[in-house]
Amino acid sequence: MANEQEKGAAGRAAAKLVRDGDIVGLGTGSTAYFAVVALGERVKSGLKIIGIPTSVQTADLARQLGIPLTTLDEHPAIDITIDGADEVDPKLNLIKGGGGALLREKVVASASKRMVVVADSAKIVPVLGKFPLPVEVIPFARTVVEKKIVALGASPKLRTKPDGSPFLTDNGNQILDCSFGKIADPPALAVTLSNTPGIVEHGLFIGLASVALVGRGGRVEELRP
Ligand code: 5RP
Repeated sequence: MANEQEKGAAGRAAAKLVRDGDIVGLGTGSTAYFAVVALGERVKSGLKIIGIPTSVQTADLARQLGIPLTTLDEHPAIDITIDGADEVDPKLNLIKGGGGALLREKVVASASKRMVVVADSAKIVPVLGKFPLPVEVIPFARTVVEKKIVALGASPKLRTKPDGSPFLTDNGNQILDCSFGKIADPPALAVTLSNTPGIVEHGLFIGLASVALVGRGGRVEELRP
């Protein structure tokens, strides 16, 4: 419950940063949800924005709220993106992908002038890696990638649906949740994973976040890299 309040406070604070005329990247997850809802309220009051959703789930929510949507083909430059995170370190390196939307989230973040991370206080960590790192793989390559990740010292676990079948991302790929333990050098691991054939994307977001708005008790803290 405390987390929900912190998430709500962070999400609403981030929505206030959006200005008339902005192209806005709309993140995915339970914290980004509060920002999207707050943006929907501002749109009803006359704010003119166009959103680029990072998932089918967020696109559905934005449509219900009356937020006009566009695509990266029509608007390849995004003014501001608001998105959640599973872990945030002191340099604002992130682990993302708990909700399975990491690929589109990273594309949208990389096309954004500013990425505002919204989080509850439990997401702030001194070192990334307690949260298993989501790695999106093409199904064809899964076993090969699993072996490479084991060789890196991690335990990969295929994400499954409640019926036991593999979870599929919006892009038709599978996710390996990889327990690395403490990640000593996130930028180096990010490069290694990005260079592994069969990995479409991984949840390490290095140097993409501009600011983090973190709900803590009744306040919202602002963290910068
Ligand atoms: C989805 C994400 C989410 O932003 C991340 O999992 C945080 O989610 P929540 O705000 O629900 O804790 O990366 O792919």
